Amino acid sequence: MNVKQLEKESTAVATEMNNFLANLNVMYVKLHNLHWNVTGIGFFEIHVKLEELYTDITLDLDEVAERILTIGHKPLASLQSYLAVASITEISSQDIKALAAIEIALADYTILLEQAKAVLALAEAANDLGTQDLISGLISKYEKTLWMLQAYTN
Ligand SMILES: [Fe+2]
Repeated sequence: MNVKQLEKESTAVATEMNNFLANLNVMYVKLHNLHWNVTGIGFFEIHVKLEELYTDITLDLDEVAERILTIGHKPLASLQSYLAVASITEISSQDIKALAAIEIALADYTILLEQAKAVLALAEAANDLGTQDLISGLISKYEKTLWMLQAYTN
């Protein structure tokens, strides 16, 4: 499929990708919040793990934004626009125990995974193989992250 065809057929994909991009940006900030505010038993390992997660999310959000451009649309690019459409909610800056921090990350990665699956379904309907490839990779990565977060809480 050439770029012009992609642009025409990918409006629904781009809209859901932008919603996903918004959540990734909120998640980037929220993981920093948890990284900074985690306390108690498990501090050292969870502080480090959360840094690993937000570092990874920043790579993902860049790939998603650039894929939106590749299929002929504009990525949302302001905090205001992200907050307007994000379904992941922010939290205040306050002490949080390691287990509670991981439970929050678990809930939010579940939202990211479900949203990635919604993007994938739209990309399949639009026969957009490049987006399917990108999003499939993110789905398997978030599934693995969820497995690890779940293992910590068991
Ligand atoms: Fe840090």
